[in-house]
Amino acid sequence: MFVNRVLSGMRPTGALHLGHYHGVLKNWARLQHEYDCFYFVADWHALTTHYDDPATIEQHVWDMVIDWLAAGVDPAQATLFIQSRVPEHAELHLLLSMITPLSWLERVPTYKDQQEKLAEKDLATYGFLGYPLLQSADILIYRANQVPVGEDQVPHIEITREIARRFNHVFGREPGFEDKAEAAIKKLGARRAKVYRQHRKGYLETGNTEALAAARALLEESQNITLGDRERLFGYIEGGGKMILTEPQALLTEASKMPGLDGQKMSKSYNNTITLREDADSVAKKIKTMPTDPARVKRTDPGDPDKCPVWQLHQVYSDDAKKQWVRQGCKSAGIGCLECKQPVIDAVIAEQHPMRERAQKYLDDPTLVRSIVADGCEKARKLAQETLRDVREVMGLGYT
Ligand code: TRP
Ligand code: SF4
Repeated sequence: MFVNRVLSGMRPTGALHLGHYHGVLKNWARLQHEYDCFYFVADWHALTTHYDDPATIEQHVWDMVIDWLAAGVDPAQATLFIQSRVPEHAELHLLLSMITPLSWLERVPTYKDQQEKLAEKDLATYGFLGYPLLQSADILIYRANQVPVGEDQVPHIEITREIARRFNHVFGREPGFEDKAEAAIKKLGARRAKVYRQHRKGYLETGNTEALAAARALLEESQNITLGDRERLFGYIEGGGKMILTEPQALLTEASKMPGLDGQKMSKSYNNTITLREDADSVAKKIKTMPTDPARVKRTDPGDPDKCPVWQLHQVYSDDAKKQWVRQGCKSAGIGCLECKQPVIDAVIAEQHPMRERAQKYLDDPTLVRSIVADGCEKARKLAQETLRDVREVMGLGYT
């Protein structure tokens, strides 16, 4: 069967909040049923900007993994691991750096943006410039084809595709490639060879991506050919040379509109968050003290929901009837603001209930999380080592 491998990572920046839940984690939990999913803690990436804060990183790592589990990411379905525990990422990063033009890294928009945004930090470092390349190594080492990310990360996926293409172009060439590919087709057996040729022709003539996918699927199913021949045939579908690294695609997650307590987007830097496992009293208090329509000073003043951040939360949490009740009651001064906030408080607490429950087990026994991650690292590492073996080989480092 053709594996659709999903990979995504998150930097350990402290307790996750409901913005992460609605924007990322719900999606991760959904994908784990459909794909072979790998989710990892990008601790090296955290160091590219927070190298001066080594004391907090470990706590952030474990808290974040517990947040993932709390949100419904299931270790029986997805592989969870930590980047720095799979040092093969670093070796691939180094090897890819040999063929990565500096200009490609310098023109990634996050490079200048972040340097300006985090002006108090010295980010004129080698590590920070290499951030997107490290991310490319993260992705390419698992030959992941789908990478769920937000809009801001698209340039990083784009550069990853360019690097894979360049790598395959530089190292996938071999003398007599065509002849070898043709010989490999024959080894597929008559029926498969015919289907492969049809799909290849379909793709090369019309750019039909379904034909491309079908040809790849066919190769995945063909167990009777060598790894080298398989890479040749993967590459041959598209022309060129062997396909050693897989070009990934961004699986765009719909931008989360999760509003924060002040109506801006929920974000740690705006100090307007509710954390994933915040206790119920604190949730109630935060929502009760949220600002409302500034024109609604007294209980008897009518308000305008469109000028109120509480209304934005109703849009996430309330059904049509409730929303109708809010709009009508607010505009007519029929309900008070505290009354209006109560259903939101109840909904947030109800949403968090299963999360708090799932997390408890891991808080009670921290060795559980450690062992989930240890298993994940081991599984990830095996795959990473396979890719790296092929990469070393074609780069002339195959000697033992
Ligand atoms: N740069 C990503 C972010 O800030 C985190 C990340 C690191 C990542 N490596 C990755 C995401 C690989 C997807 C795939 O969100
Ligand atoms: Fe906002 Fe609700 Fe108060 Fe209207 S009634 S101002 S929507 S909190």
